[in-house]
Amino acid sequence: MTNRVTVIGSLNVDTILEIPRLPKPGETLAMHNQSFAGGGKGSNQGIAAGRAGADTHFIGKIGDDTNGQFMINSMKDSGINVDQVTVTKDAKTGQAFILLDDEGQNSILVYGGANQKLNVDDVKNAEATIANSDFIITQFETPMDVAEAAFKTAKANDVVTILNPAPARQAIPASLLAVSDLVVPNETESQTLTGIEITDEASMVKAANKMHDMGAKCVIITVGSKGAFYHTVSGDTGFVDAFKVKAVDTTAAGDTFIGALSSQLNKDMSNLTDAIRFANRASSITVQRMGAHPSIPTLAEIEAAEAAAK
Ligand code: RIB
Repeated sequence: MTNRVTVIGSLNVDTILEIPRLPKPGETLAMHNQSFAGGGKGSNQGIAAGRAGADTHFIGKIGDDTNGQFMINSMKDSGINVDQVTVTKDAKTGQAFILLDDEGQNSILVYGGANQKLNVDDVKNAEATIANSDFIITQFETPMDVAEAAFKTAKANDVVTILNPAPARQAIPASLLAVSDLVVPNETESQTLTGIEITDEASMVKAANKMHDMGAKCVIITVGSKGAFYHTVSGDTGFVDAFKVKAVDTTAAGDTFIGALSSQLNKDMSNLTDAIRFANRASSITVQRMGAHPSIPTLAEIEAAEAAAK
């Protein structure tokens, strides 16, 4: 059965600046290349879910500009329903500037713009879309009160909520975590959220238990090229190794993981490890390509990579 996934979050046009290394203060440095691509944590997760086979709806906000139209077209090209993406005249479409160095490390500067204008009324207008979903996903590139309103609507309609607490934020309302079924941070975000330093599996168990105390039924901590650690409130836990590949650009790897996961997961999370393995496979493809939207794989590509590895 096809999962119905709603993503509420950011849409950014990414400017990718390929540089040898980060410039020092006062230094002028030549770039190797620059390019543009669709991005934003929310839209990346939506594209990942849609390309991996989920029936995907997106709730977000763009500016009244060509970047906004570019983002709408990129989402539509991947079959994402954008009926709940609205236009504001009060801010420009979100943008991100990605500094990608020769080591494949990235540093990102984000202009929130229209993403920050998404509001609780937008959630009310999208109530039917949310209620008609199996999963709803959000992150922190749009306002937290919007995330909370969306998750409350979801919980009232038996929709499973997935929170990606990214970018890392210290002050996350307890009331938001209380309505988050699955929380998916990376190591840094986990640390910021719980105050527990991630050094080994024991520290991940500790952090996960703290997130369970906050309300999460299930926690997945993504650990970059190593893989993903999972821990459920009933104590089911383990580590699913990542696939070894040569990364050229890790932008959107975590977003691909979350979107792809939501396309496969059962609502009762009974196939958690299989869904994590699928998500690891999807993000292993993303890191081998440049940019956010252009790098996110389709179901056919994920299945082909899986078959080739057998
Ligand atoms: O997670 C990657 C994304 O973060 C990029 O696409 C960029 O837009 C930033 O929001």
